[in-house]
Amino acid sequence: MYRVLVTEKIPFTDYYKDIDFIYKPKNMDSHQWLMESINDADGILITLSDRIDSEIIDAAKKLKVISTYSVGYDHIDVKYALSRNIKIGYTPDVLTESTADFIFGLIICIARRICSGYETIISNKWEYRWKPDFMLGHDVYGKTLGILGLGRIGHAVMRRASGFDMNVIYYNRTERDVNGHVGLNELFSRSDFIVITLPLNDETRNIVNKDLISKMKKTAYIINASRGHIVNEDDLYNALLNRDIAGAALDVFDNEPVRADNRFVKLDNVLLTPHMASASYETRRDMANLALKNLELGLHGLNPEKYVNI
Ligand code: DGY
Repeated sequence: MYRVLVTEKIPFTDYYKDIDFIYKPKNMDSHQWLMESINDADGILITLSDRIDSEIIDAAKKLKVISTYSVGYDHIDVKYALSRNIKIGYTPDVLTESTADFIFGLIICIARRICSGYETIISNKWEYRWKPDFMLGHDVYGKTLGILGLGRIGHAVMRRASGFDMNVIYYNRTERDVNGHVGLNELFSRSDFIVITLPLNDETRNIVNKDLISKMKKTAYIINASRGHIVNEDDLYNALLNRDIAGAALDVFDNEPVRADNRFVKLDNVLLTPHMASASYETRRDMANLALKNLELGLHGLNPEKYVNI
C-alpha cells in the first residue's frame, strides 16, 4: 500500500485501491503538517497553495512523486526535488480552454464595465434611464491584443481574439511559428489589452514593472490570470491610481487570498476575481483525474503523464 498525503479533498480517490490517502486536518497549516507527516510518505498530492521547499523535501525519506493539482509549479522547489529523483506531475492542457474563456471574460468585463454596471444597480446608483455618457467603456472588437507569453493558454486566447477581429501581437522569449511576434517594449506600447499568460519563475518575476507600464497607452488595460508576482504590484497600483492606464483585471495577486481592505479594492478602474480562471466543474474534474494519474504513475516509478522536466 502506498502512503500519500493529500492537502485538499479531491474526487475519484476511491478508484485507487493500492493507495492510502491521508488528508490534512482542516485548519492545520499545510507546511507544518507536511513537515510532521512526510517522513514515510511515498507521494504527496498538493495544490498551488502548498509550498514545497527544500526543508519539506529533506524531511521526506521515501518520497517518489509530488503531484500538483495545478498547471503552475512555482510553489515547488523543482530543481531540488528533481535532484533528489522525485518526480513532479502537474496538470497542463486540461485547463487551457476554460482559462482562456475566463481571460476573455475579464477583457470584456473590464473594457465594457459589465461588473461596474452590476455594482451601479445593486448600490442604487442607476438614476437616469439612459444618458449618452453613462457607463462608457472601450470597445474590444478590432483592438490590438498583446499576449505576454505565447504558450498553450496564450494560443487559446489568440484563437478567441480572431472572433473579435482583433489584431494580435505577442512577446515570447523564443519566437513562435505564428505571425505577430514583437519586442517587449513594442508589445506594451501598441496593445490595447495586455494579457499575461507567462509562468512564474526567476526570469518572469516582476517582469511587468513601471518601465513597461509607462510604455502603455492611457486607454490600455492589463489582464493577469497567471501569477501575481509577474507584475510589480506597487508599480501597477500607482499606474492605476494616477490613471496612467485605463484599468486592470486581476485574478491573481502577490498575497492570496485578497481581503476587502486590499488597496486595489478602493480603485474604480479594476476588476478583481479570486484566482478562479480554471474554476469550471469540467476542468476541475479533468485536473483531478490527471493529478491522480500522474500520482499513480510516479508511485510506480514511472514518469507522470504530464511531468515537470527543467
Ligand atoms: C494553476 O493551475 O496553476 C492555476 O493557477 C489554477 O488552476
